[in-house]
Amino acid sequence: MISAKDFIPSKYTHSVEKGNFQWSAPSNIALVKYWGKKDNQIPANPSVSFTLNNCKTITKLAFAKKDISPEVSGSLNVTGNNFSFDLLFEGQPKEDFKPKIQKFLERIEIYLPFLKDYHFTIDTENTFPHSSGIASSASGMAALAMNLMSLEKALNPEMTEEYFYQKASLLARLGSGSACRSVKGQVVVWGNHANITGSSDLFGVEFPNAIHANFKNFQDTILLVDKGEKQVSSTIGHDLMHNHPFAERRFAQAHENLDQLISIFESGNLDEFIKIVESEALTLHAMMMTSMPYFILMKPNTLEIINAIWKFRNETKIPVCFTLDAGANVHVLYPQNVAEKVLQFIKNELVGYCQNGQYICDEIGNGAVLI
Ligand code: DP6
Repeated sequence: MISAKDFIPSKYTHSVEKGNFQWSAPSNIALVKYWGKKDNQIPANPSVSFTLNNCKTITKLAFAKKDISPEVSGSLNVTGNNFSFDLLFEGQPKEDFKPKIQKFLERIEIYLPFLKDYHFTIDTENTFPHSSGIASSASGMAALAMNLMSLEKALNPEMTEEYFYQKASLLARLGSGSACRSVKGQVVVWGNHANITGSSDLFGVEFPNAIHANFKNFQDTILLVDKGEKQVSSTIGHDLMHNHPFAERRFAQAHENLDQLISIFESGNLDEFIKIVESEALTLHAMMMTSMPYFILMKPNTLEIINAIWKFRNETKIPVCFTLDAGANVHVLYPQNVAEKVLQFIKNELVGYCQNGQYICDEIGNGAVLI
């Protein structure tokens, strides 16, 4: 079995003075949810997600080797225990993002021992409005991890593609758990599952089994219900699964639901798909409501939308369903062949529940891309 130690490099064969890379990485939407974790960002249960196509982060990483010759030690170039980096968001310096990146670099330094040899300029932007309430941590951490792996590959060109992507996902995981599912593949599993070959707690893997044509170009329209700052961060929410009265049963349920999805992906049974996906969304929020302290991230309009989707589905038999992440926004999921009817329904009946009428049309995508 692969262990985290396998990703600690022994030595590099090449040296690189300076250069830059640019990667885009998408967001993803979980069908079976990751909620609860152990030390080192190890998930308490396996999860599976659709990779998105349009909601992404584009990050350029410029790097230049620091001069660490004895004559200049003590100069500004030598930063001791600190990593040396500038952070730009949409071209402007963004000090508020730096502590999160600093923490990320600390966590991954053991896997990338060259980090303190370079000064980095990280220039990042999102394709979705930053006030949309859409979490950019998954796409953002994945895009940064891809860039750092490109640099490691330049130092060690012999690295295999498998190692490159596994390690990119492992690094992304250490930035934000769900980010490890934003690296490669349309349907990505993260976390050990007895019946999914290659699944791992350390990194996300492409779902290895058959996927029915019903899921090809699957649509996700994200309804922006509330763009405000969340009252409780995901990190705190995960933590509240420790000593949670329903935690063990919930973790077991995630394994069972993933098991069911294996056959649903193969058969293309959308009625069964809907049952699992909606139950997962509501269970996630039920865990929040039954934590101590308890909290609610849904808003009245979240419930209005859920009820409208149920009514529409009952009346039309169109296989459209919802899922939620850790917030009030609603992801509306449906196959491509009903896209026209569902979009009409969204425009007629759901847009009124969105803040400033805003929604984002997305669909299943392939993962990170080197630009
Ligand atoms: C509800 O990945 O944001 O979206 O690992 O603390 O950064 P950290 O948490 P994060 O949690 C995401 C939780 C979720 C479900 C999911 O994406 O599986």
